[in-house]
Amino acid sequence: MKILTILGTRPQLIKAGAFSNYLLNHTNIVEVIVNSGQHYDVSMSSSFFEEMGIPKPKYDFMAGGLSHAKMTAKILEKSEETILLEKPDFILVYGDTNTTLGGSLAAVKLDVPIIHIESGLRSFRINQPEEINRVLTDRLSKFLFCSSDLAVSNLKNEGIISSKERIVENVGDIMLESVLLFKNKLKPSDNIKKLSEKPFYLLTLHRQENVDNILVLKDILNGMKELNKKIIFPIHPRTQKRIQEFNIEVSANIILTPPASYGDMLFLINQSEFVITDSGGLQKESYFFGKKCLVLREETEWKELIEVNASVICGTKTEDILKQFTKITNNQSSIPNDIYGTGDTSEKIVKHLKL
Ligand code: UD1
Repeated sequence: MKILTILGTRPQLIKAGAFSNYLLNHTNIVEVIVNSGQHYDVSMSSSFFEEMGIPKPKYDFMAGGLSHAKMTAKILEKSEETILLEKPDFILVYGDTNTTLGGSLAAVKLDVPIIHIESGLRSFRINQPEEINRVLTDRLSKFLFCSSDLAVSNLKNEGIISSKERIVENVGDIMLESVLLFKNKLKPSDNIKKLSEKPFYLLTLHRQENVDNILVLKDILNGMKELNKKIIFPIHPRTQKRIQEFNIEVSANIILTPPASYGDMLFLINQSEFVITDSGGLQKESYFFGKKCLVLREETEWKELIEVNASVICGTKTEDILKQFTKITNNQSSIPNDIYGTGDTSEKIVKHLKL
């Protein structure tokens, strides 16, 4: 059996850290990895292959730094060529990026069954690029592996249920498996250890709707200033570019540092007092480490975390950030620790893959 995996962004590499290693060490399945190149800085891409022991990609599409249409089109075209060449039994995609959609479209047109890991998430904001990618990829997939019961029920509401044609199942969250696999294995760099000596909050910020608008970005950074606390901020290249373009001055309590390796990020989350983010993955990772999280968005696809008060949505306005921060830090209710399964996602997925 041969799987062609099409990935290309930082969070997809983190997910592959668990699943590709599982395929390699526990099965006879051949995995051919394709890197779309959507993320192309070493710190966002190739360093993760080495750090997490993911087999080297056989193909690199070099589709980074393009507009949405050009990037998706390039990945679609190159995926078609590669599928024709490799003749895989399945193609595998993760999450909700342009890489996910480009790879899926190519596969479905060639009648190759799609495995979608992290299926069924919905933010219900169809103007978000990620929501478009998710909804479409789910329509096209044959194996829809969900992280939670809520994701399964989102699909059911769209008429997507297990049938002769497809499998829809809650297999738990693949990122939990990555955390469990790597948290004791990877050691933090000296630089990050030193940076995190005194208590701090951890910040990440990269969403198009947050960083491409000067007013929104300024409001968020002003909120960070008003929190008046040491904040470590591993900065995404997109955000870095915008801060420079908009000529925004970052306040002194915010410590900027380059995108973190996975080992550094796990260390930072674990050492932090609190996490502030607009990333989907980091909301979950904070929860896995028992850290509360402020979500710099108007909604989240990880709604389970809001329901149990592990995360709170605060939007992007300075006053709302401060208000919600006080609310969540004062809330002492206990949080269940099994919302996303037990970390055996890969095993559960592989059991379903039959020719
Ligand atoms: C993408 C995903 C998003 C995911 C995120 C994880 C889409 C639509 N978005 O967003 O869902 O949460 O990855 O990080 O697929 N850039 C660099 N170097 C890099 C990567 C990006 O300079 O290594 C620059 C690009 O040139 C571009 C900007 O950052 O100007 C955005 O990159 P892009 O890959 O389009 O989207 P992300 O914001 O990373």
